Amino acid sequence: PLRVILARSGKEVEVPNGCTIMAALRAAGHEVASSCEQGVCGMCETRVLDGVPEHRDMLLSENERARGNVMMLCVSRALTPTLTLDL
Ligand code: FES
Repeated sequence: PLRVILARSGKEVEVPNGCTIMAALRAAGHEVASSCEQGVCGMCETRVLDGVPEHRDMLLSENERARGNVMMLCVSRALTPTLTLDL
């Protein structure tokens, strides 16, 4: 499972396989703004401070994907065992 580190609080949230990062954060009591929850609206875009996101949204450009410093929490996962988010 993926571990997400919330940089502002220093909290860590485990994201079970089959669970979205957004769902795991909410289950842990964190508010996450969303609308489409399908990777198309951009409302859940979040800055990535460390780790490599695995983008599954329809929104980011090739360049943004390659840069890897933002991601959509509703659909995207990670290629690294941990992700540090600006939350
Ligand atoms: Fe729309 Fe995540 S909620 S892209």
